This record gives sequence, C-alpha cells and structure tokens, in this order.
Amino acid sequence: MPQVQVLTGDPLMLESDALLIGVLEDDGRLKGVAAKTDKALNGQLRNLREWGEVKGKIGEVTVVHSLGLLPPRRLILFGLGKSNELDAETVRRAVGSAVKTLNQIGVRHAALVPPETDCLTLPDLARAITEATLLASYRYNRKSSDDEKPSLERMELVTTNRRSASEMDKGVQLGTMMAEATNFARDLVNAPPMEMIPTALAEQAKAVAEKRGLACEIYDERWIEEVGMGALRAVSLGSDQPPRFIVLRYEGKVDAPTIGLVGKGITFDSGGLCIKTAEGMLEMKGDMAGAAAVIAAMDAIARLQPAINVLGCVPATENMPGGKAYKPGDFIRAYSGKTVEVVNTDAEGRLILADALSYTKQRGASPILDAATLTSAAVIALGPICTGAFGNDEALVREVVEVGKQVGEPIWAMPMFADYRELLKSDFADIKNTGGRPGGAITAAWFIGEFVGDTPWVHLDIAPTFWSDKDRYYFSKGATGVAVRTFTQFILNRAKG
Ligand code: BES
Ligand code: MN
Ligand code: ZN
Repeated sequence: MPQVQVLTGDPLMLESDALLIGVLEDDGRLKGVAAKTDKALNGQLRNLREWGEVKGKIGEVTVVHSLGLLPPRRLILFGLGKSNELDAETVRRAVGSAVKTLNQIGVRHAALVPPETDCLTLPDLARAITEATLLASYRYNRKSSDDEKPSLERMELVTTNRRSASEMDKGVQLGTMMAEATNFARDLVNAPPMEMIPTALAEQAKAVAEKRGLACEIYDERWIEEVGMGALRAVSLGSDQPPRFIVLRYEGKVDAPTIGLVGKGITFDSGGLCIKTAEGMLEMKGDMAGAAAVIAAMDAIARLQPAINVLGCVPATENMPGGKAYKPGDFIRAYSGKTVEVVNTDAEGRLILADALSYTKQRGASPILDAATLTSAAVIALGPICTGAFGNDEALVREVVEVGKQVGEPIWAMPMFADYRELLKSDFADIKNTGGRPGGAITAAWFIGEFVGDTPWVHLDIAPTFWSDKDRYYFSKGATGVAVRTFTQFILNRAKG
C-alpha cells in the first residue's frame, strides 16, 4: 500500500514520477501551479484544453510528459467535474481514476496539488484524496505472477502554506485509517471460502484485538449450544466447520454509552438443503461482508480512540447441506427464547443475527447497528447503487443515512410498515423464517427486529453493495468493504456528541 504524506514546498521543484493537477469542467482558466506548468511546457496544457482533449470530466485522466522541461517527469491532468458539484465523493472519484492510471503506468512516487475550493474544508479534502489513493491502489491478487501489482509507493499532497499543511495532515491521518480498514475488510471478503472459515475469521478478529489492544472473546460450538443460541447452532449443523461467536470490545470512556455493532458472518452460503444455483452461489464467500465490516471498523475505532464504548459481535458459521443439516420444517429455539419455524434453510442470515442481536442487547449495548448481506430482494429493489436501511427508530435511521452521505456510502431508508410483520406469522411457532418473495428485504428486517425489542436499532442490508461487478472509480472488481466507513464515522460522531 502506498504512503500518503503532506509536504510543504513548491510542487514544481519536486522531482516526482508524476505531478497530479485537477482540472474543472466549467472553468478552463489555468491558475497557480497549472499556469506555471503550462508556461514551462510552452502552452501545452492550454492547447490540450482548447483542442478539446482535456474536458475536465470526472474519470478523465490525461498523461503529459514533461520531457525534461520540469522536475516532475509527467503531469497528470485529472477531471474534477463541475465546480458547483465538487464534494468529497467527486474528489474521491476523480483522484481514484487518476490513481488507477498511476498504478497502470508504473508510477511509484506521485505528488498532488489539492484543488482550491470553498466546497470542502482542508481536512475533508485531504481525507478524500487519501481515501481515494489507498482504495484505488487496492488489488486482490491470486495470480502466480504479480506483474499487475499496483506500483504507487508514495503520494505527497503538496502545499506552499505551513498552516494548510497541518490542517491537511489531520485529514490524511483519518483518511488513512478509514481506507486501511476498508481494504482490510475487502481482503477478508475476497479471501477464498476454503480459507476464510469461521475459525479463521475468529483468528482475524483476535489478531486485530492483539494488535490494537481490544478485548476479544471467542466462543466455540459447545458454548453456543450451552447458552442456547439455537438459531446459530441450527445453521451450523450442516457444515463440517465448527461455528464461532466472536466478540470485540473497545473501551474508550468509563460511564459512556456502549454502541453495538453486529455483522453477519456466513463464511459461505450454499443455501443449505434449500440449495442455491451454481450462479447464485458464486459470490457467497462474501456472505460474511457484514462481519468483515464490524471487525475492520473495530480496527479503525481502536486506532482513532474515540471517547465512547463499542461492542462488536459476529456470529460466524457456514451454511451447508451436510447430513446433519437443519431442514425445512424444523423448529428451533433462539437465544431470546422465541421459537422459529424453518421454512427455507437459505434464509439463514436472519437466524444467526437473531441470536447475535439478542446477545448484544443483553450485554447492554444501545443503539445497535447491524450490517448483513441479507437478501437478494434488496439487490432487486436498490440495484448496485446503495445499501438499504431499516430500523425501529426513525431518527436513528436518518442519522445513519446522513453518516453514509458523509463518508460516501449511499444508504436509502426502506419502509417498515407494521403490516409486513403479518407475513412472518407461523401456524406452529412464534415466527417463521421467511415471508415470501414480495417485500423480502422488509420481512427479513422485521424478522431480526423481533430480537432487538425496544433497543434503538438500524439494520443495513448490504447485499446490493458488498461486491462490485466491475472496476468503478476508486473501486475495482470484488469486495468493496462497505459499511466500515459508515460504522466508524457513526462512532466518531457519537463520541463527539
Ligand atoms: N446471503 C443471501 C442473500 C444474498 C443474495 C446476498 C445475493 C448477496 C447477494 C441470503 O442468505 C439468502 O439466501 N437470502 C434469500 C432469502 C430467501 C430464501 C427468503 C434470498 O434473498 O433469496
Ligand atoms: Mn442464504
Ligand atoms: Zn446468506
């Protein structure tokens, strides 16, 4: 991973492999560094602009070689879009596109002049640039040769002003922690399901705890059975891999509230006996993306040290159709004591979340946020653009939606009309585990909501967003690490009060 740093000095005197300069779509005037560069290059930049080769659109990247006329070997013009649409997300997209080019053409040392704008504070601007640099330089590679390895080693944000430098440095620090945690979650999700089994996920959590000084409790299959987590246990029965219940604790302030974070940790979802199609199973190693988000957010939180307490809980198991597998028609008793009729073994996520949510509530956490790749219905409803939010407290849902905006993880609030709850009525048990295909994301949310009671709670269905089918701005194909930044920022905001 590259290092992002702030440097005070003249960017044009700095010997780098590439100097990045942002260009606006609606303002063609060359100012500051761009004007000086243009002069040194005999009007080359102005020409590119006038000939229409450089338009300034987001995602546009133009490489200009300086041919010895300037210390930087190349100038990279990257589009910033329209000046009135400039915000943290457009900066991330613009810089992300540029950084992908840097990594393709083998740039190791780049410098960037942060664009001048009133739309963003300096720390926020530096944070967005840092996040984009680190997220766009991520690549999950299992090829036998690594000649496609991202080349970027160092990115310097250059400013001539010392005060700005220290402002920007705050943003760089925060952005680095956010992006590194996001990339860590991406690694956990991209890892093959043969490796990322429940015990391995627990080891990952333990490693984070040891590295960052968090408390960590890992419970095994015997404990799960003894305490009565019948729903988690039922799901685990069809697998040869033992389940784990993982707890991470961050204590930032005595007597401060404890916020609960819960993540679905199905390390592979075959559907169980209600088995999925081959195509439907392809991305199901990522059915622990919620768990990855919790573990990675705990990592970022432990580094950022907010004055608040956080309890992270992850139920981890495979969902497999082995000979001992739970079956449609089974009745199970959840940790809360409620009985559940199993209608479909592929609706396993809500079962393990039921136990994890009642446990988190029992340990006194409030509010509770969960992230889960819960339903394909959410994918159909929302497409690949945003995460669905559900909950029992409108103000809390709104708060989480706002946090999503703040960090660039779009979230949309979904309706929770009480009539949907009717669809989960069972003739034999307290509740059944599916309510049919229509409104599937909402009935799933109602199911897990049964186990949090009145504790303020928001559920994020990240099935739409945990995976990217193609390279896009600062993301490449594969895991996105979604919810890490939303969780972490939520905690930071709450700690600030
Ligand atoms: N993990 C899946 C949901 C999923 C699907 C996540 C696609 C990401 C991408 C979940 O366990 C599941 O199988 N849900 C079923 C529920 C149904 C049986 C009621 C679904 O959504 O089809
Ligand atoms: Mn499933
Ligand atoms: Zn699942």
